[in-house]
Order: sequence, then C-alpha cells, then structure tokens
Amino acid sequence: MNRIAALAAALAFCAGAAHAAGGLDLRLDPAPIHRLDVESLQRGARNFVNYCLNCHGAKFMRYERLTDIGLTEQQIKDNLMFTSDKIGSTMTVAMRPADAKAWFGTPVPDLSVIARVRGVDWLYNYLLAFYRDDGTVTGWNNLVFPNVAMPHPLWELQGGSKLVTTEYDGHDKALAAAIAIKGLASVEPGTGNKWHVRTVAADGNAPGTMTQLEYRTFVADLVNFMAYVAEPNKGRRISIGIVVMMYFVVLFALVYALKRMYWKDVH
Ligand code: HEC
Repeated sequence: MNRIAALAAALAFCAGAAHAAGGLDLRLDPAPIHRLDVESLQRGARNFVNYCLNCHGAKFMRYERLTDIGLTEQQIKDNLMFTSDKIGSTMTVAMRPADAKAWFGTPVPDLSVIARVRGVDWLYNYLLAFYRDDGTVTGWNNLVFPNVAMPHPLWELQGGSKLVTTEYDGHDKALAAAIAIKGLASVEPGTGNKWHVRTVAADGNAPGTMTQLEYRTFVADLVNFMAYVAEPNKGRRISIGIVVMMYFVVLFALVYALKRMYWKDVH
C-alpha cells in the first residue's frame, strides 16, 4: 500500500513539475504537409542537406534510400552528397560531438526520428519561431523552444523577426486574442489578473531573401522530409493496411455466405 501511495505522490509531483515548467499555453499552427507530395519531399531533402546537415546528422537514414522519394542515384550523388560519402552511407555529420558541445554548450541532437519525438506541428512552428534577442549568446531566441542554443539557420531566407507581446485583462480575453491570430501564439500568465499573448512577427526593416509565404513553404518541405526520414516505411505500411482490410471484407462476405448455407436447412 505504502508503495502505491509513494508512486501516486511521485506521479502527482511529476505532473505538477511539468505544469510549472510549461506554465504557458502554446498554440501551434498546423504544419501544411503532404506525405505523398514527392516534389515537396525532394525539396525538403535539398533544404535539409544544405541548411541542417552541417550541424545535425540523420544517422538512421541512408542516402541510397532517397530513391524512395523519386530521386535517382545520380541526382543524389550530384546534389545531396559530399564527395567523400558513398551512396550506401548514412547521413552523418562531420562535426565531432565533443566539438559541438564546446561550441554550442550542448550536444547537437541527431534528427533521424525528431519528427516522431516532437511531432510535425512542433517542428514547423519551431522553425517559424526564431526572433532577435540581444540577451542570448547567438543573438536569437525561440518562442517554441525558449533559450535554444541553436542559432537561426535560415535567417537569411526569413529575414529578421521580433517578439510581439500584448497584455490582456483576464485569461479569456488573452485566449480569444491568441485564437484570432490564427497562427503560432503563446498565452502566458503575467502579474495579477494580467495575461500575455506572445507571437513572432516579421521585422520589416530586415527583409529576407524570401517572402513570408515562400519561407513557410520552404519550412513545410523541410518538415515533410523530416517526417519521411523518421518513418520511411509509413507509405508502405498504409498500403499494406488497406490490402489487409480489403481481404477481411472479402473474407467476411464468403464466411457469411457459408453461414447462410449451413443454417438454411435448420430454419
Ligand atoms: C550551427 C549549427 C546548427 C544548424 C546549422 C542547425 N542546428 Fe538545429 N540545433 C543545433 C543545436 C546546438 C541544437 C541544440 C539546442 C539546445 O538543446 O538548446 C539544435 C537543436 C535542434 C532541434 C531541437 C531538438 C530537440 O528536440 O531538442 C531541432 C528540431 C533542430 N535543431 C532542427 C534543425 C533544422 C531543421 C535545421 C536546418 C534548417 C537545423 N536544426 C540547423 C545546431 C544547429
């Protein structure tokens, strides 16, 4: 009994701690991705190799596997690989973990299954949520991952962006305002009855090389690719599932016909 009570107390404590750590209500913009959009996956692979692979690896992914998303081996070799890599090698990163730790103060995580750990909506919003912050080492901060050690890898494309905080009287008003934003927003408690709604907005003074829409598409492609990397067999699994369901339907019809035949004489 004692043990159960201790377990319950531990669980309650964890839940409380998680709540206290979160404290904020993050409203994510759903990631507009389509798993079967092969062109989007190909663009995502290119974006990933050009902008993420210099720090992060995807060590469970082999280059040759990218033929799944419609690329030829030659295209993979010419556009996505460093000359030293072989087509059968995995997408590893040249940086040593110890160096990463020294440069960023934290290890750089492998991104093979990140889409399953964090979810695609989280990833999409994370890449939209960087804003300028002079108080951090990198000069960037992130609304979705506060005080992240990763510098904004895509800032030249996106341009500058800033945190916008608005104060409201009461939680209801703040929540309504956050919903009205129709995009990423976080609702956080302020002092007393005050609540803050925070969101990230483009800084008109520092435009990027892409428009906001182009940037969102770029990020969506990237997230689509990371979701594919996290589960390359998903498409196959779904098609096998459909075949199995069709098999059951046919089987059911046959068995039912058989049952009627057996019971014909009884009734
Ligand atoms: C300059 C090196 C660098 C580049 C380039 C870079 N990252 Fe990172 N990234 C980091 C570091 C360092 C962290 C760890 C941050 C922390 O824990 O505070 C990180 C963390 C992350 C995380 C959070 C992982 C987690 O759940 O804790 C994601 C997701 C991520 N990066 C995605 C990307 C994507 C996508 C790209 C390419 C567009 C990219 N990164 C480019 C250095 C980099």
